Amino acid sequence: MRNPRAFLRPLAVGAPAPVADIPFRPSRMIHFFDPSNPKMAAKVPDIAPKVDIILGNLEDAIKTENKEAARQGLVDIAKQTDFGQTQLWTRINSLDSPWALDDLITLVTEIGDKLDVVMVPKVEGAQDIHYVDRLLAQLEARAGLARPILVHAILETAEGMTNVEEIAAASPRMQGISLGPADLAASRRMKTTRVGGGHPGYLVRQDPTGEDLTQGRTTYQQDLWHYTIARMVDACAANDVLPFYGPFGDIKDVVACEDQFRNAFLLGCVGAWSLHPVQIDIAKRVFSPDPADVAHAKEVVEAMGDGSGAVMINGKMEDDASCKQCLVMLDLAKALAE
Ligand code: GLV
Ligand code: MG
Repeated sequence: MRNPRAFLRPLAVGAPAPVADIPFRPSRMIHFFDPSNPKMAAKVPDIAPKVDIILGNLEDAIKTENKEAARQGLVDIAKQTDFGQTQLWTRINSLDSPWALDDLITLVTEIGDKLDVVMVPKVEGAQDIHYVDRLLAQLEARAGLARPILVHAILETAEGMTNVEEIAAASPRMQGISLGPADLAASRRMKTTRVGGGHPGYLVRQDPTGEDLTQGRTTYQQDLWHYTIARMVDACAANDVLPFYGPFGDIKDVVACEDQFRNAFLLGCVGAWSLHPVQIDIAKRVFSPDPADVAHAKEVVEAMGDGSGAVMINGKMEDDASCKQCLVMLDLAKALAE
């Protein structure tokens, strides 16, 4: 499993030293909470050990009058809580909002030693990442931080989508990219009003078998986000950063949530957002490799020896390429088991 921090170089004089060997950290779910909501904040110490990443959200879903309370709430929670192995992230406000600059200044200064990743919403191009990168370098140097804070971009505008490759490549701080299907749908003028997931109207219909075109024609719902996720995964894989599916807003529909997460996993995503505790276990299950797949992968890798040539296993041809696919599976299983 690639270590997203392994390639970091010093960013500026006085900046944190390069991080050569921080171990892989599981990232199957990014669990969102509202730090301005005292009830939610009180649950953080209980929830943190159950998730790979806990994220204090300052952006959308936080009312304007609560923006400063959310920022301060996150500072207080971070200072009081031992997060153990769990990563602490924040989603700052968008760079054209009145709050983003203060979000960065306050959080890096006050809790920069605990903060692993800053998620930046509505990223439109490399310039947005460069801006955050330079600010972080300056604030880290001033705070005397020992390790760099990483950056995660949300892909949620048509312009960001167009520039996804340059966003993924914009800085050695880039940890990953999440799909933001709700904002992206609005930006693209798609005709869905859902927060992620499919749509019953987006389907293919079997060809007619008889004269009556209205009868006996099965329909299959399609994945509305297939193209977008695949494109994001390519940009991330080509630049050694991690791709994530974003939110699934229909909390009660755990079946569709699991389907959407699994589609994203199969296409290459490493995790998704959880907006409610019920989505934590779904993400854990989906984004951990299936034991049957791991057992099969082991069998192929062992049978392939040095990886060259081809073997037949249960009537199927395995070769160098399928062996590499199996190594991806084993790599993830091993990293998650450590
Ligand atoms: C997430 O922020 C989204 O817009 O889907
Ligand atoms: Mg959004």
